[in-house]
Amino acid sequence: MPGSDERAGGVPERARTDPGTALAPSAGAPIEARAIGGAAPARRSPLVRRVLGGFVALVVVAGGVTAVAEGASRAGQRRAFVAALTGGDPARAPEEMIRYGCAGCHRIPGVPGARGRVGPSLAGFVNRPFIGGVLENTPENLVAWVRESRTIDSRTAMPNTGATIEAARDIAAYLYALRPD
Ligand code: HEC
Repeated sequence: MPGSDERAGGVPERARTDPGTALAPSAGAPIEARAIGGAAPARRSPLVRRVLGGFVALVVVAGGVTAVAEGASRAGQRRAFVAALTGGDPARAPEEMIRYGCAGCHRIPGVPGARGRVGPSLAGFVNRPFIGGVLENTPENLVAWVRESRTIDSRTAMPNTGATIEAARDIAAYLYALRPD
């Protein structure tokens, strides 16, 4: 019986050894796989970041070169487009926006000293669906708002500015020509 015990013990021993050796790789595999799976992102991500960074840098450089190359003609096209849209000349607007006090209440890219905080920034104005939250953003409505915001909305904090219709058209042209944000 001790023999059968030994055999019985031997069989389980082998069985233990076999599954043991069988288990060792199978247990090792998931661990390795897990190790690879866990290590890979950590190892890959700086590379991915570097590759992506290089790509982004390339796009930025390419974009810059293109922008410089096409800058003059694009600016001309944009000026013609906003002039057709509003009947104004955006080149006259910065000085007018200083004269009519817009610059004191608004941040307006390209207008010296226009860092006002009373009203919203006018950067990316072309993207806004509404003017002062009450008017659809169209060229006609913008010209009207720039002159007579308080007449349009008696509760707005923006006063009627006294801008002439010509100045308001120039200003509208300028605001539509600002880069979208
Ligand atoms: C006394 C401060 C003040 C002055 C001066 C002023 N604004 Fe405003 N403006 C505001 C305020 C406040 C608002 C927000 C109005 C609202 O939502 O009712 C506003 C809103 C606007 C808007 C709409 C912005 C949006 O995103 O809805 C435009 C465009 C605008 N102003 C342009 C001008 C121009 C151009 C001038 C000069 C001709 C000017 N403002 C002068 C205070 C001012």
